[in-house]
Amino acid sequence: MTPLRIGLLGIGTVGGGTYDVLTRNLEEITRRVGRPLVITRVADLDTDLAKSATGGSAEVTDDAFAVTRDPEIDIVIELIGGYGIARELVLDAIANGKHVVTANKALLAVHGNEIFTAANDRGVVVAFEAAVGGGIPIIKALREGLVANRIEWIAGIVNGTTNFILSEMRDRGVSFADALADAQAKGYAEADPTFDIEGVDAAHKLSLMAAMAFGVPVYFEDVYTEGITAIEGVDIRYAERLGYRLKLLAVTIRREAGIELRVHPCLVPEDVLIANVEGVMNAVLVQADAVGPTLYYGAGAGSQPTASAVIADLVDVARLISADPGERVPHLAFQADQLSDTPVLPMDDVQTSYYLRMRLADEPGVLADVTRIFADESISIDAALQQEPGKELAADFVVLTHMTTERAVRAAIAAIESLPTTHSDVVLLRMEKLS
Ligand code: HSE
Repeated sequence: MTPLRIGLLGIGTVGGGTYDVLTRNLEEITRRVGRPLVITRVADLDTDLAKSATGGSAEVTDDAFAVTRDPEIDIVIELIGGYGIARELVLDAIANGKHVVTANKALLAVHGNEIFTAANDRGVVVAFEAAVGGGIPIIKALREGLVANRIEWIAGIVNGTTNFILSEMRDRGVSFADALADAQAKGYAEADPTFDIEGVDAAHKLSLMAAMAFGVPVYFEDVYTEGITAIEGVDIRYAERLGYRLKLLAVTIRREAGIELRVHPCLVPEDVLIANVEGVMNAVLVQADAVGPTLYYGAGAGSQPTASAVIADLVDVARLISADPGERVPHLAFQADQLSDTPVLPMDDVQTSYYLRMRLADEPGVLADVTRIFADESISIDAALQQEPGKELAADFVVLTHMTTERAVRAAIAAIESLPTTHSDVVLLRMEKLS
């Protein structure tokens, strides 16, 4: 049995986990694959770390290009992250005829169209199960398990850091900053946690899932992205009183005129499964025409869960390495020459329901003015909640709307904010019933 020789670029949290899991389960994995998968070379700027992590069983270098160009290497695992040097290394590995396994969602979201084209031209695989949903095999499901279906929509919690922060804020009353520091200490957050808390990491993952669901290019630039930094505890509590949980949701929906592509904090009814996904766990709900809804749940970040997905990709590559490139599963689930140019809908055209919180004067006729504005915009109210006025004779008024468009809600908000009896900006959160 000739071993498959693997070069590992980056032996940090996920790289270390990959090395550990592969070493620990090598016998079992070999029984599955039919040949051993062996990490023979490791590149990391911290060569001492790499040496201690591998215990001398792999050759260590600080020159990653020495690995991507090594004729003895069959597969390169890229776990450096970012889209600077990682892009050069992945393109170099492809140019040198290596198959690539990567967890780098940022790289694929921003440069995926270029990288997949280069891989197709060279006849190699770029596998990226670990890029979305950590250890959850969601890429496998979208590309293979659901292949019979026309996918209608996807809604997912795909960032463990923000889900962890929102869970800690709700359950334990922990501050945003403390919860973020804890997520970083646990190795969930990106090197730059702005990507997590501003929703960018979730947008990276959403653009990849949408491409595989709808057969469109990777449209990262067109994802509407809003993070959790402006979330106030008061909205988490009002949402709970109304029977909802607040989650950072990544949503893509196929509409007649195009696709919706958005990441934002979102109320979800507390009795749907996804509302109960807590901590670093991720979940992706896929609605498809034949199978109906399917839900994929598991650890969305962390060393060994992500390593599980990296190694699953290694096994896939090992099984397909001698197959004709045309017979492999296409990178983005659809044949590369069959991608459609379905547009991404502007946010104004998005259809959903809304949570709106406003502070109104405690005077006769104030609610009548507000509800008149909703009626003028053809917005139907689903539920409302009014807090007793405090000493300042103004009260929080929270409205849940039925389905409407973002355009109508924005117009209503502008009109409400211009009333002399409105004492605050209107807080807008979107809401998905997921039914
Ligand atoms: N920072 C990411 C998260 C890691 O928190 O989900 C996994 O992609």
